[in-house]
Amino acid sequence: MNILVLVSGTGTNLQALIDAEKAGRLGPGRIAGVISDRPAYALERAKAAGIPGLVEKAGSGLSDRILHDAREMDAGFIILAGFLSILEGEIISAYGGRIVNLHPSLLPKFGGAGMYGERVHRAVLDAGEKESGCTVHLVDAGTDTGPILLQRKVPVLPTDTADSLAERIHTEEHIAIVEAAALMAERLNSK
Ligand code: GRF
Repeated sequence: MNILVLVSGTGTNLQALIDAEKAGRLGPGRIAGVISDRPAYALERAKAAGIPGLVEKAGSGLSDRILHDAREMDAGFIILAGFLSILEGEIISAYGGRIVNLHPSLLPKFGGAGMYGERVHRAVLDAGEKESGCTVHLVDAGTDTGPILLQRKVPVLPTDTADSLAERIHTEEHIAIVEAAALMAERLNSK
């Protein structure tokens, strides 16, 4: 089951998927390609693992170009691992139920347009939340609104900064994204 991974940044979640595949923890899942919407260190990780990677520049037509690439590599499903652009148009229906996104909060709280990275953790702290975490959900035509596949929770400590909270959630994200990828690969492979 070919997996296309979309990234925009450092790629620690991509690395968790790469390491899981090497350890046989992605079931029938195999990372067939990595696409970034900008130059990113994540592509260095793909290269080091011998996985084809490319940049599809953010901007008009991005989603259609990614749909074309996904079909070219016969991707069974798509994982957004720290991908900052919003997918829209035909890809949402063509890959309906087969696109998953990772978000660093307990959706539906602290999601939506403009809610990414440090902003999310800042908002959680400003709201005085006692817990936070990460969510893996299916992508629909909205932003962070699709059905939730799984969540992992962490406590918010009185001494937390946005960075310390982000770090604690990152650890859970690396577990959650592997669990979700294996789940999707098994589920789609058995259809
Ligand atoms: C993750 O925290 C993810 O939830 C968010 O972007 C970050 C990407 O981290 N959408 P990395 O590039 O995988 O290290």
